[in-house]
Amino acid sequence: MIESEKEHKNKRVLSGMRPTGRLHIGHLVGALQNWVKLQNQYECFHFIADWHMLTTDYMDTSELEDNRFQMILDWLACGLDPNRSTLFVQSSIKEHAELHLLLSMITPLGWLERVPSYKEMRENLADKDLNTYGFLGYPLLQSADILMYKADFVPVGEDQVPHVELTREIARRFNFTYGRNRTEAVFPEPQALLTPVPRLPGTDGRKMSKSFGNDIKLSDDPAIVEKKILPMVTDPARKRRQDPGNPDICPVFDYHKAFSTEATQGWAAHGCRTAEIGCIDCKHGLLKHLLPVLEPIAASRRELEAHPEAVREVLDAGNKTARHVAQATMDEVRKAMRL
Ligand code: TRP
Ligand code: SF4
Repeated sequence: MIESEKEHKNKRVLSGMRPTGRLHIGHLVGALQNWVKLQNQYECFHFIADWHMLTTDYMDTSELEDNRFQMILDWLACGLDPNRSTLFVQSSIKEHAELHLLLSMITPLGWLERVPSYKEMRENLADKDLNTYGFLGYPLLQSADILMYKADFVPVGEDQVPHVELTREIARRFNFTYGRNRTEAVFPEPQALLTPVPRLPGTDGRKMSKSFGNDIKLSDDPAIVEKKILPMVTDPARKRRQDPGNPDICPVFDYHKAFSTEATQGWAAHGCRTAEIGCIDCKHGLLKHLLPVLEPIAASRRELEAHPEAVREVLDAGNKTARHVAQATMDEVRKAMRL
C-alpha cells in the first residue's frame, strides 16, 4: 500500500457543497471522485451547504428544496456511501448558526474584507446585490462549518484555500482568547486538501456552469451527452479537416484527460497534431470512454429516485450523527467562553 492510501480513520475530513441542483461532470472530476476515495482512508463528513447558497441567492429560494434533493441523489449515485461518510444538511444543524455568531465576535472586519472571493464575487455577480451582512460573513460561516467538526482536512478547489486559511486564523484566535492554556486548544487547525485535478471547462470553453448552459450533467441521457459533445468548441485553428490542431488548448482534450485511457489520449493528441483524425472522430473517441462512466451513475440515480423516502432517511441519519458531534463541540465552546 502506498503512503497516500494508508488509513487514517482517526483523522477527519469535512467538505460542503452548495446545492446548485443536478451536478455536472466538473463536480464529479473536481470533487466527488475524490470524496469517494477519501472515505476509504478517513472519517468523512460531507454536507449540503444550503445556508451558503442563501448568501448569494437569497432573492429566490423556490428551487432550494428540489436542489438539495437532486444533489444528494447525485452524491449517492456517484458512490458516496452513507455507511462510511456522514452526509447531512447544514440548515438542519442549528449549532452552525450559533458557532458562526460566536466566532463573529472575535473576527476583525478586515479579515473578511480581504478574502479574495469577497471582492471578486461582488464584481462577477453584479446582477445580484451582494452588499449584505450575510455575504461578507460567508467565509466565517464556512469556518464555523469546519471547526464544528474539528476537521483535520478540507478537500476543496484552489478558490477555497483562502477560506481554509481564514479558518486557521480564527482557530488560533479562539484558542488564544478562550483556551485555558496553549496545550488545551479547543480547535485544531484544519488543512486544505487540494484536489489534484485540473478544472473541466464547459462545452463552449468557458468555466463549466449551470448558468452558462455549457455543462454535462451526471443525469443526462447518453443521447443528450452526445448532442452536447459533438458540437463542442475545439481548437479554432482546425477550420478544415486537413488543418492540424493543438490538443493542449482544446476543451475536448481536457475531457480526454479526465475520462479516456492513456492510449486514447495518445491517439487523439497525435491525430490532432497531424490532422490524421478530425474533431468528430476525436469526440467519438471521447464518448466511448465518457458514456460508460456516466451510465452506472445514471442507473443508480434512477434507482434512488424511485425511493425518495430511503434517500431522506440517509439524510436524517446523517443529520443525527452530525448533530451529536456539533452539540459536543458547542458544549466545549460555551464552557470555554463561560456562557
Ligand atoms: N464555500 C464552499 C463553496 O462555495 C462550500 C462550503 C461551505 C464548504 N462550507 C464549507 C467547503 C466547509 C468546505 C468546508 O464551494
Ligand atoms: Fe480538439 Fe480533438 Fe479536434 Fe484536436 S482533434 S482540436 S483535440 S477535438
